[in-house]
Amino acid sequence: MVRPIKTAVFPVAGLGTRFLPATKAMPKEMLPVVDRPVIQIAVDEAREAGIEHFVFVTGRNKSVIEDHFDTAFELESVLKARGRQAEIDRLASGLPKPGQASFTRQREPLGLGHAVWCARQLVGDEPFALLLPDMVMHASPGCLRQMIDVYEARGGGNVLAVEEVPWDQVSRYGVVGAAEWQGNAFSVTGMVEKPRTQEEAPSNLIISGRYILQPDIFAEIEKQAPGAGGEIQITDAMIRLMARQPFHGLKYNGTTYDCGDKVGFLSANVAFALDRPDLAPGFRAALRRILGTDIP
Ligand code: UTP
Repeated sequence: MVRPIKTAVFPVAGLGTRFLPATKAMPKEMLPVVDRPVIQIAVDEAREAGIEHFVFVTGRNKSVIEDHFDTAFELESVLKARGRQAEIDRLASGLPKPGQASFTRQREPLGLGHAVWCARQLVGDEPFALLLPDMVMHASPGCLRQMIDVYEARGGGNVLAVEEVPWDQVSRYGVVGAAEWQGNAFSVTGMVEKPRTQEEAPSNLIISGRYILQPDIFAEIEKQAPGAGGEIQITDAMIRLMARQPFHGLKYNGTTYDCGDKVGFLSANVAFALDRPDLAPGFRAALRRILGTDIP
């Protein structure tokens, strides 16, 4: 029996400099895709996958995320007085149950690896999921659910969700080498963080923001000196862990939108809006007016 994945870590302490001035006073994780903040989309994906403990690694200016996952007393009493029970129920369904959410602070944005390491006491000695909330996955079933299925089928270990990108974009991402494919799953043979040339990249499969990791990753992060950009990267720690534990890859069924990037964020809004039966007809008509043509 593999150990179940019950805890998810959400690093939300980054500065979001690519989205200034929007992110000057507001966390980028609260930017909405249609009407859900990106952090809510990641939490919903984790809940659907069976996660019971939601760990947020936050920083200064991020306390609104904690408020978002709490009861909004004044709002609810006004909605109640106006008889809008459906909205009250919808808000409640997006919340972790009492006691299921934990918050810790990174204090200094020293990189993703460091943010994950800050969650070590809250995670404990259990395998866990790591979700980068600004990578919004458009998938059904959700990306993490698909990954947990692979984790169970392949007997545990570590799992990375990957996505194919055009070769001229590989230098922006962490890239994996793949072998022994079984359906959409494979064994990870190597990883390179932001390869400088296409020749340095083992494939055009990029790590797309969802991980299942064994708790041994914390000790590997601890050994680490700052890498690319002076930040403590998670990829360097995973490369060391790969020497003693299996890493599986999953080319998951769905599309990733990098909502930390403006074009990715706008694209996610279009894709999610077109998926909403209540919005799609009006939105299509608006797009037709803007573009001067029908969209397929
Ligand atoms: P990014 O590199 O996309 O976030 O990190 P960023 O640094 O906020 O973005 P830019 O480049 O300045 O616009 C991916 C995820 O890791 C978190 C971010 O909040 C984001 O969810 N992160 C990053 C941390 O929690 N701490 C860090 O030190 C860095």
